[in-house]
Formats: sequence, structure tokens, C-alpha cells
Amino acid sequence: MTVDGKIATTCGKSQISSRLDLLRVHKLRSSMDAILVGISTVLVDDPLLTVRLMKQLNKGSDPVRVVVDSHARIPIESRILKTADRTETIVFVSERANEIKIRSVRSTGAMVIIAGAETVDLLSVLSYLKKMGFKKILVEGGGEINWSLLSVGVVNELIVTISPKIVGGRSATTLVEGDGYENISYAINMELKKVQRHKNGELVLFYEL
Ligand SMILES: NC(=O)c1ccc[n+]([C@@H]2O[C@H](COP(=O)([O-])OP(=O)(O)OC[C@H]3O[C@@H](n4cnc5c(N)ncnc54)[C@H](OP(=O)(O)O)[C@@H]3O)[C@@H](O)[C@H]2O)c1
Repeated sequence: MTVDGKIATTCGKSQISSRLDLLRVHKLRSSMDAILVGISTVLVDDPLLTVRLMKQLNKGSDPVRVVVDSHARIPIESRILKTADRTETIVFVSERANEIKIRSVRSTGAMVIIAGAETVDLLSVLSYLKKMGFKKILVEGGGEINWSLLSVGVVNELIVTISPKIVGGRSATTLVEGDGYENISYAINMELKKVQRHKNGELVLFYEL
């Protein structure tokens, strides 16, 4: 995120951190069982969520990609679904999702699981992933998913890179969105465990919850 807490600009541009930090993220991804993102991140960024920078160094393998998408809005043309025949992909939808769309998502090779009535129930998602044997799940945003998971108390670690930049914008997505807490006394308390400083001024903060 930027120093002012934004994870994207008002236009949704989110390439904030350096190549060095991206390599750190890819290394982290390759140590995970799954990477989870919200559907808005897929719609705005069209990410691949692979460890390609590690593969360039002949290291690492791709974790399973998990998309939380109540209404099955994920585009068939998205880079995630276009590569779903090669990289394992699970799309969690709610009972509201269109059956025909679910079938076309499945035809790409992605698995589609219904979890939740209106929106995706994240606790069901986590228990499903646990049953599949997944132990380490990396959540890569965006702000809404970050809030949903933090506020139900299922996050045990937060790693955030602060890039020495300010982009402003009241509609720019911040690290944690959602409804928020009215009182500081309700705040989620964390313990700062480690700080890494890159030469370019980026700080990588490691918190435990
Ligand atoms: N800088 C970074 O590291 C970084 C990382 C990731 C994203 N981003 C940026 O963040 C922005 C997107 O973030 P965002 O906060 O708008 O959206 P998001 O968290 O990516 O996705 C939110 C959407 O997920 C779906 N969802 C389903 N069940 C949910 C649940 N239980 N809790 C929360 N969401 C649920 C909802 O849509 P449905 O109801 O339709 O399913 C919701 O609108 C983009 O601009 C992206 O570029 C930046």
C-alpha cells in the first residue's frame, strides 16, 4: 500500500510496489497452499496469481487460486480462467449465482463450489479448503475481502509493504474496507514482529494477530 493506506488509485491502478517486493510476494506465494482474492480484484486487475518470477529462476510452483465471487461474475476471458486448465483454480459462489454461468466457468477447468446464500460465506470457504488439506492460505485482497476475514478473526498474520508514495483519492481502495469499527476499543490489535527496509524506501511490516 501507499503511505496514505491506498492499495489502488481512484482508477484501480494497483502496481504500487517494486519488482524486488513483487519477487518477495512470488516467493511467499510459492510457499502457500492457496492464494485467495475477491472478485473485484479479478475484475479490476485481471491477475494471474502465479509465481512466474520464481519460475524465471527455475524455482517454485503455483499454489491453487481461489476466487470469492458470489454472483459468478468472473469473466470467461479473465487470465485466471484462461489458465485454469493448467493452474488449479476454485471459484466460490453463492446460491445466487447463475447456473449457466457456473457451467461455463467449470468448462474452463476451474472448480466451482457453492458456499453461502446471498454472498459467499468465508468461514465455509475456509472449512472447505481445510478439508481439502490446505494449511496455508495467502489472502491478497482487496480491501473488502481483507475486512471480511479480519473481522471474523481468522487471520493470523499480516504482511504489508508500505511504498513511499501518496496517491490520495477518497474513492481509492484502502488496505481494509468493509463497515469498520466505530470505537478504537474494538480495533483488531496486532503485534509488530519484524520490519524489512528496502533500499528504495519500501518498508515491509510483519504483524502477528
Ligand atoms: N495493492 C495491492 O496489493 C492490491 C491487492 C489486491 C487488490 N487491490 C486493489 O483492490 C481493489 C479491489 O478491492 P475491493 O475492496 O474493491 O474488492 P475485493 O475485496 O477484491 O472484492 C470484493 C468483492 O468480493 C465479493 N465477495 C463475496 N463474498 C464476500 C465476502 N464474504 N466478503 C467480502 N467480499 C465478498 C463481493 O462481490 P460479490 O458479492 O459480487 O461476490 C465483493 O464486492 C482493486 O482496485 C485492486 O486493484 C490491490
